[in-house]
Amino acid sequence: MSRVARTPARSSTIPKSVRCLTAALLAWGLPGACKATPPEAAEPAAAPLGALVVPSEGLQADLAATEAFLDTRPRYERPLRESGLSGVPGVGALSAEACRACHAEIYDEWRVSVHSQAWLDPQYQAEIAKSGNRWLCLNCHTPLLIQHDRWPRGLLEGDVERPVLTDNPSFDPRLRDEGITCTACHLQDGVIHGPGLPRAEGDPAPPHAVVADPRFQGPDLCLECHQAEAIYEGKTFICTFQTGDEWRAGPYDDEGRTCVTCHMPPIERPAARGGPVRTVRRHWWRGAGIPKSVDRSTPPEANPPGLDLTAVVDDAALQVTMTNANAGHRLPTGDPERWVQVDVQFFAGGTAIGTPWSHRMGQTWEWTAPPRKLADNRLAPRESRVQRVAIPPGATRAVVVAASHRISAEVATHHRLGDYPRSIETHRLEVGL
Ligand code: HEC
Ligand code: HEC
Ligand code: HEC
Ligand code: HEC
Ligand code: HEC
Repeated sequence: MSRVARTPARSSTIPKSVRCLTAALLAWGLPGACKATPPEAAEPAAAPLGALVVPSEGLQADLAATEAFLDTRPRYERPLRESGLSGVPGVGALSAEACRACHAEIYDEWRVSVHSQAWLDPQYQAEIAKSGNRWLCLNCHTPLLIQHDRWPRGLLEGDVERPVLTDNPSFDPRLRDEGITCTACHLQDGVIHGPGLPRAEGDPAPPHAVVADPRFQGPDLCLECHQAEAIYEGKTFICTFQTGDEWRAGPYDDEGRTCVTCHMPPIERPAARGGPVRTVRRHWWRGAGIPKSVDRSTPPEANPPGLDLTAVVDDAALQVTMTNANAGHRLPTGDPERWVQVDVQFFAGGTAIGTPWSHRMGQTWEWTAPPRKLADNRLAPRESRVQRVAIPPGATRAVVVAASHRISAEVATHHRLGDYPRSIETHRLEVGL
């Protein structure tokens, strides 16, 4: 079990039993729970719904008030990195653009990753425009305090959806656009932390100090954001990401294969411009690989799909076997709205016949206050599931298709997401009958 450390809440209505995190906005994920609030641009012009904005008292006073408030909150409700307001000693700016000068390949991979789009993500933008709980979301999606347009300094009547906010005098909107930027993972106490490259005499010296940090080889860094669970009494939203627990319950932890092993595959190249060739790691973090935008997506070779799919004829049935062969956690993991679906269609010649068959693997939630998980049939790591599908008379072939989905058409329409990519096809099998 991994838990993000928490300090007890002093002035909140959150019950003591609350573990971690907040999140994913699914109050809106239910047909029926949908309200007609439009997804307005999340710019600081207007106060978020329910929030009270108080005048700034100057950077130091605002920072002190914010830090005093954040100290009363659980870990997952705080920016995951300290402000780093003064930049990176030896480099200057906090931006990925500053790192790019020497770490260009890493920059190019990060730039197409989902992490670099954690703020720009159209779905995220639509969701955070709709609730006063926006201040919670910023902590993982834009983890530096300097990336936040407003800082929280209290809650009205302890209500997480009615924060007291103040404009952040040091706010950097360009850095906010970078979402989970390099320094979100690599900067700690003003120093660059990394895996600890084995340095030899003559290797070019970094302009910045470096601390070798064991968290970069294991799951702990990742699980600051990918393992979290919070239920807010009286609220229709929760935060639930169980990837760490799912990984620990499966075989990969014992085999020494962590998040980094699969999601940051190794490559031989210099870690920095002019440096020696080393075994270093890709910065793609491809998951299901459903793109967030057309011009930024990770290549398929970054990561195989989690699913292995076979279909064979057995008597009068098509036997479909679905195995979570490659994902180190449940398939799918992460956002509870995700699912993986397998569809079978039979044909007689060129004509579709019979009733299409489909199997959905995912979670089912009821978005009441508080939300309740009703069902969960996701595949555990290496679990196989066999389903038999009756072959209709006259069928000459079957087409079996699998796809990973992140959001349903209904919810995407509700958020006015237009042509936002909702799924990706991972397998297509043709079976002669
Ligand atoms: C504890 C950290 C954390 C907090 C706080 C958090 N998120 Fe996330 N969010 C994540 C992680 C990790 C993922 C990736 C999981 C995935 O994509 O399945 C994610 C993914 C998302 C996605 C993309 C889902 C997809 O399928 O592509 C949206 C949209 C989102 N979050 C919205 C929100 C909103 C709105 C809030 C505030 C209510 C919020 N998040 C708060 C960690 C967090
Ligand atoms: C989500 C967290 C995260 C982000 C964001 C991130 N890194 Fe990393 N980085 C890591 C981890 C984890 C490792 C260690 C991998 C290993 O075990 O070798 C690493 C390794 C490195 C290394 C050592 C060489 C290598 O490739 O293994 C450099 C240099 C580096 N990162 C620079 C950057 C730069 C520059 C950016 C932004 C363009 C960036 N990182 C963004 C997590 C991150
Ligand atoms: C002027 C060039 C330069 C700039 C700018 C630069 N770095 Fe580096 N960095 C280096 C060099 C050189 C190394 C050592 C590479 C080696 O030994 O192979 C290094 C090493 C690293 C490492 C690996 C540390 C370890 O041993 O684990 C990380 C992580 C890192 N840099 C992150 C960053 C980040 C984040 C930024 C932007 C804020 C940045 N660097 C900006 C040149 C630079
Ligand atoms: C600061 C918080 C944070 C940290 C640290 C972090 N992540 Fe994430 N990660 C996120 C968020 C937020 C998203 C989803 C962004 C969105 O969809 O808007 C995400 C998305 C992902 C995805 C899904 C990509 C896809 O295809 O949708 C993978 C895989 C992933 N992260 C792996 C990792 C790994 C491995 C590490 C550790 C090296 C890590 N993350 C560290 C917050 C974090
Ligand atoms: C054995 C390899 C492996 C390990 C270990 C692993 N993953 Fe994954 N992960 C995958 C694969 C493969 C997928 C693609 C699943 C799919 O096809 O949808 C994936 C998908 C994801 C996603 C996107 C959601 C989804 O289901 O598509 C997130 C987020 C993620 N992984 C985070 C993590 C984190 C955090 C860890 C460490 C606790 C981790 N992974 C460990 C292989 C792995």
